[in-house]
Amino acid sequence: MKTKVIKINPESPENEKIQKAASIIKSGGLVAFPTETVYGLGADAFIPNAVKSIFEAKERPADNPLIIHVSSLEQVEQVAELNEASSKLIKKFFPGPIAVIMKKKRNVPYITSGGLDKIAVRMPDNLVALKLIEMTGPLAAPSANLSGKPSPTRAEHVFNDLNGKIDMILDAGETKTGLESTVVDTTEYPVKVLRPGPITLEMIREVVEATTGKGVSDEYTHYSTHAELVLVVGGREAPGKIEKIFDEYKNTGQEVGVIATKELDIKCKYFIKMEADDLHELGKKLFSYLREMDEKVDVIIAEGIEEKGLGHIIMDRLKKGATKIINAGNK
Ligand code: TXA
Ligand code: MG
Repeated sequence: MKTKVIKINPESPENEKIQKAASIIKSGGLVAFPTETVYGLGADAFIPNAVKSIFEAKERPADNPLIIHVSSLEQVEQVAELNEASSKLIKKFFPGPIAVIMKKKRNVPYITSGGLDKIAVRMPDNLVALKLIEMTGPLAAPSANLSGKPSPTRAEHVFNDLNGKIDMILDAGETKTGLESTVVDTTEYPVKVLRPGPITLEMIREVVEATTGKGVSDEYTHYSTHAELVLVVGGREAPGKIEKIFDEYKNTGQEVGVIATKELDIKCKYFIKMEADDLHELGKKLFSYLREMDEKVDVIIAEGIEEKGLGHIIMDRLKKGATKIINAGNK
Protein backbone atom coordinates (compact mmCIF):
# COMPACT_ATOMS: atom_id res chain seq x y z
CA MET A 1 0.00 0.00 0.00
CA LYS A 2 1.24 3.46 -0.82
CA THR A 3 0.73 6.00 1.96
CA LYS A 4 -0.32 9.39 0.60
CA VAL A 5 0.80 12.44 2.53
CA ILE A 6 -1.51 15.39 1.91
CA LYS A 7 -0.62 18.85 3.24
CA ILE A 8 -3.72 20.54 4.58
CA ASN A 9 -4.30 24.07 5.85
CA PRO A 10 -4.82 23.92 9.64
CA GLU A 11 -6.76 27.21 9.79
CA SER A 12 -9.00 26.61 6.82
CA PRO A 13 -8.85 22.97 5.74
CA GLU A 14 -9.48 22.49 2.02
CA ASN A 15 -12.80 20.78 1.53
CA GLU A 16 -11.76 18.44 -1.26
CA LYS A 17 -8.91 17.07 0.88
CA ILE A 18 -11.25 16.38 3.79
CA GLN A 19 -13.65 14.71 1.36
CA LYS A 20 -10.92 12.48 -0.02
CA ALA A 21 -9.90 11.41 3.48
CA ALA A 22 -13.53 10.82 4.47
CA SER A 23 -14.19 8.61 1.47
CA ILE A 24 -11.15 6.45 2.34
CA ILE A 25 -12.48 6.05 5.87
CA LYS A 26 -16.02 5.27 4.71
CA SER A 27 -14.65 2.48 2.54
CA GLY A 28 -12.84 0.93 5.52
CA GLY A 29 -9.40 2.54 5.13
CA LEU A 30 -7.07 4.26 7.59
CA VAL A 31 -6.26 7.97 7.69
CA ALA A 32 -3.90 9.68 10.13
CA PHE A 33 -5.11 13.15 11.10
CA PRO A 34 -4.00 15.94 13.44
CA THR A 35 -5.65 16.68 16.77
CA GLU A 36 -4.64 19.37 19.28
CA THR A 37 -2.69 16.75 21.29
CA VAL A 38 -0.98 14.31 18.89
CA TYR A 39 -1.76 12.76 15.50
CA GLY A 40 -4.45 10.06 15.56
CA LEU A 41 -4.92 7.04 13.29
CA GLY A 42 -8.58 7.05 12.32
CA ALA A 43 -10.99 4.36 11.15
CA ASP A 44 -14.78 4.26 11.09
CA ALA A 45 -15.66 3.17 14.64
CA PHE A 46 -18.53 1.01 13.34
CA ILE A 47 -16.58 -1.00 10.72
CA PRO A 48 -14.98 -3.88 12.66
CA ASN A 49 -12.53 -4.78 9.89
CA ALA A 50 -11.32 -1.20 9.61
CA VAL A 51 -10.80 -1.04 13.37
CA LYS A 52 -8.98 -4.37 13.19
CA SER A 53 -6.54 -2.91 10.69
CA ILE A 54 -5.68 -0.13 13.17
CA PHE A 55 -4.51 -2.78 15.64
CA GLU A 56 -2.53 -4.50 12.88
CA ALA A 57 -0.87 -1.36 11.54
CA LYS A 58 0.18 -0.23 15.02
CA GLU A 59 0.96 -3.76 16.25
CA ARG A 60 -1.22 -2.90 19.22
CA PRO A 61 -2.45 -5.52 21.73
CA ALA A 62 -6.13 -6.27 21.01
CA ASP A 63 -7.22 -5.68 24.61
CA ASN A 64 -6.05 -2.06 24.60
CA PRO A 65 -9.23 -0.06 23.85
CA LEU A 66 -9.43 2.83 21.37
CA ILE A 67 -10.82 6.31 21.94
CA ILE A 68 -13.83 7.24 19.80
CA HIS A 69 -13.43 10.76 18.38
CA VAL A 70 -16.59 12.79 17.81
CA SER A 71 -17.46 16.21 16.44
CA SER A 72 -20.79 16.87 18.15
CA LEU A 73 -22.87 16.05 21.22
CA GLU A 74 -25.21 14.01 19.03
CA GLN A 75 -22.29 11.80 18.14
CA VAL A 76 -21.40 11.38 21.84
CA GLU A 77 -24.93 10.10 22.44
CA GLN A 78 -24.69 7.85 19.43
CA VAL A 79 -21.91 5.82 21.08
CA ALA A 80 -22.23 6.24 24.88
CA GLU A 81 -24.67 6.47 27.81
CA LEU A 82 -24.18 9.73 29.67
CA ASN A 83 -24.56 10.20 33.42
CA GLU A 84 -24.35 13.28 35.62
CA ALA A 85 -20.57 13.28 35.97
CA SER A 86 -19.83 12.66 32.31
CA SER A 87 -22.35 15.31 31.27
CA LYS A 88 -20.65 17.89 33.49
CA LEU A 89 -17.16 17.07 32.23
CA ILE A 90 -18.29 17.12 28.62
CA LYS A 91 -20.04 20.42 29.07
CA LYS A 92 -16.96 21.95 30.64
CA PHE A 93 -14.11 20.48 28.57
CA PHE A 94 -15.35 19.42 25.11
CA PRO A 95 -13.86 20.11 22.64
CA GLY A 96 -10.49 19.63 24.36
CA PRO A 97 -7.71 17.30 25.45
CA ILE A 98 -9.77 14.87 27.55
CA ALA A 99 -11.24 11.42 26.82
CA VAL A 100 -14.30 10.56 28.90
CA ILE A 101 -15.00 6.88 29.55
CA MET A 102 -18.70 6.00 29.67
CA LYS A 103 -20.90 2.94 29.29
CA LYS A 104 -20.87 2.04 25.60
CA LYS A 105 -23.93 1.66 23.46
CA ARG A 106 -24.56 -1.69 21.78
CA ASN A 107 -23.87 -0.42 18.28
CA VAL A 108 -20.19 0.09 19.14
CA PRO A 109 -18.32 -3.10 18.19
CA TYR A 110 -16.32 -4.77 20.96
CA ILE A 111 -13.17 -4.63 18.86
CA THR A 112 -13.28 -0.82 19.25
CA SER A 113 -13.66 -0.97 23.04
CA GLY A 114 -11.04 -3.71 23.47
CA GLY A 115 -13.76 -6.10 24.65
CA LEU A 116 -15.00 -3.76 27.40
CA ASP A 117 -18.53 -2.46 28.00
CA LYS A 118 -17.11 1.04 28.38
CA ILE A 119 -15.87 3.37 25.70
CA ALA A 120 -13.65 6.46 25.85
CA VAL A 121 -15.01 9.43 23.88
CA ARG A 122 -13.17 12.59 22.96
CA MET A 123 -13.95 15.70 20.92
CA PRO A 124 -10.65 17.08 19.64
CA ASP A 125 -10.14 20.84 19.55
CA ASN A 126 -8.76 20.86 16.03
CA LEU A 127 -10.46 22.10 12.90
CA VAL A 128 -9.11 19.44 10.53
CA ALA A 129 -10.19 16.67 12.90
CA LEU A 130 -13.63 18.16 13.50
CA LYS A 131 -14.33 18.70 9.78
CA LEU A 132 -13.26 15.17 8.99
CA ILE A 133 -15.39 13.60 11.75
CA GLU A 134 -18.36 15.74 10.75
CA MET A 135 -18.17 14.04 7.39
CA THR A 136 -17.40 10.47 8.52
CA GLY A 137 -19.20 10.15 11.86
CA PRO A 138 -17.45 8.77 14.98
CA LEU A 139 -13.83 7.68 14.41
CA ALA A 140 -11.90 5.13 16.43
CA ALA A 141 -8.44 6.65 16.74
CA PRO A 142 -5.40 5.82 18.86
CA SER A 143 -2.22 7.85 18.59
CA ALA A 144 -0.73 7.26 15.12
CA ASN A 145 2.55 5.66 16.22
CA LEU A 146 3.79 2.09 16.36
CA SER A 147 2.64 0.60 19.65
CA GLY A 148 5.14 1.41 22.40
CA LYS A 149 6.80 4.35 20.59
CA PRO A 150 6.45 8.02 21.52
CA SER A 151 3.24 9.58 20.14
CA PRO A 152 3.56 11.49 16.86
CA THR A 153 3.42 15.28 17.00
CA ARG A 154 4.33 15.78 13.33
CA ALA A 155 3.27 14.04 10.11
CA GLU A 156 6.86 12.86 9.57
CA HIS A 157 6.66 10.89 12.82
CA VAL A 158 3.56 9.10 11.54
CA PHE A 159 5.23 8.47 8.19
CA ASN A 160 8.35 7.01 9.83
CA ASP A 161 6.27 4.56 11.88
CA LEU A 162 3.44 3.63 9.51
CA ASN A 163 4.50 4.26 5.92
CA GLY A 164 3.07 1.52 3.69
CA LYS A 165 0.56 0.39 6.32
CA ILE A 166 -2.04 3.16 6.12
CA ASP A 167 -3.81 4.94 3.27
CA MET A 168 -3.29 8.61 4.02
CA ILE A 169 -1.75 11.16 6.36
CA LEU A 170 -3.30 14.62 6.62
CA ASP A 171 -0.31 16.84 7.35
CA ALA A 172 -1.29 20.02 9.19
CA GLY A 173 2.11 20.67 10.75
CA GLU A 174 3.09 20.30 14.38
CA THR A 175 0.33 19.60 16.92
CA LYS A 176 -0.46 22.28 19.48
CA THR A 177 -0.14 20.48 22.82
CA GLY A 178 2.16 17.56 22.04
CA LEU A 179 0.99 15.47 25.01
CA GLU A 180 -1.92 13.02 24.87
CA SER A 181 -5.33 13.74 26.38
CA THR A 182 -6.35 13.10 29.97
CA VAL A 183 -8.30 9.82 30.24
CA VAL A 184 -11.04 9.79 32.89
CA ASP A 185 -13.44 6.97 33.79
CA THR A 186 -16.88 8.30 34.76
CA THR A 187 -18.57 4.92 35.19
CA GLU A 188 -17.74 5.11 38.88
CA TYR A 189 -17.95 7.99 41.34
CA PRO A 190 -15.68 9.69 42.32
CA VAL A 191 -14.51 9.58 38.71
CA LYS A 192 -11.04 8.12 38.10
CA VAL A 193 -8.23 9.72 36.11
CA LEU A 194 -6.48 6.80 34.37
CA ARG A 195 -3.99 8.82 32.33
CA PRO A 196 -2.83 12.27 33.46
CA GLY A 197 -2.97 14.86 30.70
CA PRO A 198 -3.43 18.53 29.84
CA ILE A 199 -6.77 18.70 31.71
CA THR A 200 -5.34 18.22 35.20
CA LEU A 201 -6.83 16.47 38.22
CA GLU A 202 -7.30 19.89 39.83
CA MET A 203 -9.27 21.14 36.83
CA ILE A 204 -11.48 18.03 36.91
CA ARG A 205 -12.03 18.44 40.65
CA GLU A 206 -13.54 21.84 40.03
CA VAL A 207 -16.38 20.01 38.29
CA VAL A 208 -16.74 16.56 39.92
CA GLU A 209 -15.12 14.48 42.68
CA ALA A 210 -12.11 12.67 41.29
CA THR A 211 -9.30 10.28 42.22
CA THR A 212 -6.57 8.60 40.21
CA GLY A 213 -6.40 4.97 39.13
CA LYS A 214 -4.48 2.50 37.00
CA GLY A 215 -5.11 2.44 33.25
CA VAL A 216 -5.76 -0.63 31.07
CA SER A 217 -2.45 -0.19 29.28
CA ASP A 218 -0.24 0.72 32.22
CA GLU A 219 1.58 -2.63 31.99
CA TYR A 220 2.46 -2.10 28.35
CA THR A 221 5.62 -0.41 27.15
CA HIS A 222 5.15 3.29 26.40
CA TYR A 223 7.14 6.07 24.81
CA SER A 224 10.07 3.76 24.41
CA THR A 225 13.00 4.61 22.21
CA HIS A 226 15.42 2.09 20.71
CA ALA A 227 18.05 3.97 22.66
CA GLU A 228 18.33 3.42 26.38
CA LEU A 229 16.62 6.34 28.15
CA VAL A 230 18.23 7.34 31.42
CA LEU A 231 16.20 9.84 33.43
CA VAL A 232 18.14 11.82 36.03
CA VAL A 233 16.05 13.42 38.76
CA GLY A 234 17.09 15.34 41.87
CA GLY A 235 16.57 19.04 41.17
CA ARG A 236 19.74 21.13 41.38
CA GLU A 237 21.94 18.07 41.78
CA ALA A 238 20.81 16.61 38.46
CA PRO A 239 23.03 18.55 36.00
CA GLY A 240 26.21 17.61 37.87
CA LYS A 241 25.15 13.99 37.96
CA ILE A 242 24.51 14.05 34.21
CA GLU A 243 28.02 15.40 33.56
CA LYS A 244 29.39 12.48 35.53
CA ILE A 245 27.38 9.66 34.00
CA PHE A 246 27.77 11.14 30.51
CA ASP A 247 31.48 10.29 30.68
CA GLU A 248 30.76 6.85 32.11
CA TYR A 249 28.43 5.96 29.24
CA LYS A 250 30.70 7.57 26.69
CA ASN A 251 33.61 5.42 27.90
CA THR A 252 31.69 2.27 27.00
CA GLY A 253 31.99 3.37 23.36
CA GLN A 254 28.32 4.20 22.92
CA GLU A 255 26.95 7.34 21.26
CA VAL A 256 25.30 9.40 24.00
CA GLY A 257 22.79 12.24 23.68
CA VAL A 258 21.74 14.63 26.43
CA ILE A 259 18.50 16.56 26.99
CA ALA A 260 19.02 19.04 29.83
CA THR A 261 17.72 22.33 31.18
CA LYS A 262 21.06 24.14 30.85
CA GLU A 263 24.41 23.97 29.08
CA LEU A 264 26.67 21.42 30.70
CA ASP A 265 30.40 21.04 31.02
CA ILE A 266 30.59 18.09 28.62
CA LYS A 267 31.64 17.50 25.02
CA CYS A 268 28.37 16.22 23.64
CA LYS A 269 27.60 16.16 19.93
CA TYR A 270 23.92 15.52 20.46
CA PHE A 271 22.69 18.00 23.02
CA ILE A 272 19.21 19.47 23.31
CA LYS A 273 18.50 22.29 25.72
CA MET A 274 14.97 21.96 27.04
CA GLU A 275 12.95 24.99 27.98
CA ALA A 276 11.96 24.16 31.55
CA ASP A 277 10.65 27.75 31.97
CA ASP A 278 8.18 27.29 29.14
CA LEU A 279 6.41 24.02 29.88
CA HIS A 280 3.96 24.45 26.98
CA GLU A 281 6.86 24.59 24.57
CA LEU A 282 8.58 21.65 26.26
CA GLY A 283 5.37 19.58 26.23
CA LYS A 284 4.92 20.33 22.57
CA LYS A 285 8.48 19.29 21.72
CA LEU A 286 9.08 16.38 24.12
CA PHE A 287 8.24 13.50 21.77
CA SER A 288 10.07 15.21 18.88
CA TYR A 289 13.19 15.43 21.03
CA LEU A 290 12.99 11.74 21.89
CA ARG A 291 12.46 10.68 18.28
CA GLU A 292 15.20 13.01 17.01
CA MET A 293 17.73 11.66 19.53
CA ASP A 294 16.66 8.08 18.87
CA GLU A 295 17.83 8.35 15.27
CA LYS A 296 21.34 9.29 16.34
CA VAL A 297 22.35 7.80 19.67
CA ASP A 298 22.45 4.59 21.72
CA VAL A 299 21.82 6.24 25.08
CA ILE A 300 19.69 9.29 25.89
CA ILE A 301 20.29 10.99 29.21
CA ALA A 302 17.39 13.29 30.13
CA GLU A 303 17.11 15.65 33.05
CA GLY A 304 13.97 15.46 35.16
CA ILE A 305 11.95 18.59 35.83
CA GLU A 306 9.74 19.74 38.65
CA GLU A 307 6.47 17.77 38.75
CA LYS A 308 4.11 20.72 38.85
CA GLY A 309 1.29 21.47 36.39
CA LEU A 310 2.33 20.39 32.91
CA GLY A 311 5.65 19.33 34.44
CA HIS A 312 3.75 16.47 36.08
CA ILE A 313 2.47 15.25 32.71
CA ILE A 314 5.88 15.61 31.06
CA MET A 315 7.49 13.61 33.88
CA ASP A 316 4.75 10.97 33.65
CA ARG A 317 5.68 10.36 30.01
CA LEU A 318 9.45 10.45 30.68
CA LYS A 319 9.16 8.02 33.59
CA LYS A 320 7.08 5.61 31.53
CA GLY A 321 9.64 5.76 28.73
CA ALA A 322 12.72 5.53 30.95
CA THR A 323 14.78 2.34 31.10
CA LYS A 324 16.49 3.66 34.23
CA ILE A 325 15.78 6.45 36.73
CA ILE A 326 18.71 7.84 38.69
CA ASN A 327 18.22 10.09 41.71
CA ALA A 328 21.11 12.56 41.81
CA GLY A 329 20.46 13.16 45.51
CA ASN A 330 21.29 9.54 46.41
CA LYS A 331 24.91 8.80 47.06
O1 TXA B 1 -4.71 12.69 22.85
C1 TXA B 1 -5.14 11.56 22.62
O2 TXA B 1 -5.90 10.95 23.41
C2 TXA B 1 -4.71 10.86 21.32
C3 TXA B 1 -5.36 11.61 20.15
C4 TXA B 1 -5.12 10.92 18.85
O3 TXA B 1 -6.73 11.79 20.40
N1 TXA B 1 -5.12 9.49 21.35
C5 TXA B 1 -4.51 8.58 22.13
O4 TXA B 1 -5.04 7.30 22.01
O5 TXA B 1 -3.58 8.83 22.86
P1 TXA B 1 -4.26 6.00 22.54
O6 TXA B 1 -5.07 4.86 22.05
O7 TXA B 1 -2.86 6.05 22.10
O8 TXA B 1 -4.39 6.08 24.08
C6 TXA B 1 -5.66 5.91 24.68
C7 TXA B 1 -5.53 5.48 26.11
C8 TXA B 1 -4.93 4.10 26.23
O9 TXA B 1 -4.03 4.12 27.33
C9 TXA B 1 -6.14 3.22 26.53
O10 TXA B 1 -5.78 2.10 27.33
C10 TXA B 1 -7.06 4.17 27.27
O11 TXA B 1 -6.84 5.43 26.67
N2 TXA B 1 -8.48 3.80 27.07
C11 TXA B 1 -9.20 3.94 25.94
N3 TXA B 1 -10.44 3.44 26.10
C12 TXA B 1 -10.50 2.98 27.35
C13 TXA B 1 -11.52 2.31 28.12
N4 TXA B 1 -12.71 2.02 27.62
N5 TXA B 1 -11.24 1.97 29.39
C14 TXA B 1 -10.01 2.24 29.92
N6 TXA B 1 -9.02 2.85 29.25
C15 TXA B 1 -9.25 3.21 27.99
MG1 MG C 1 -0.93 5.85 22.20
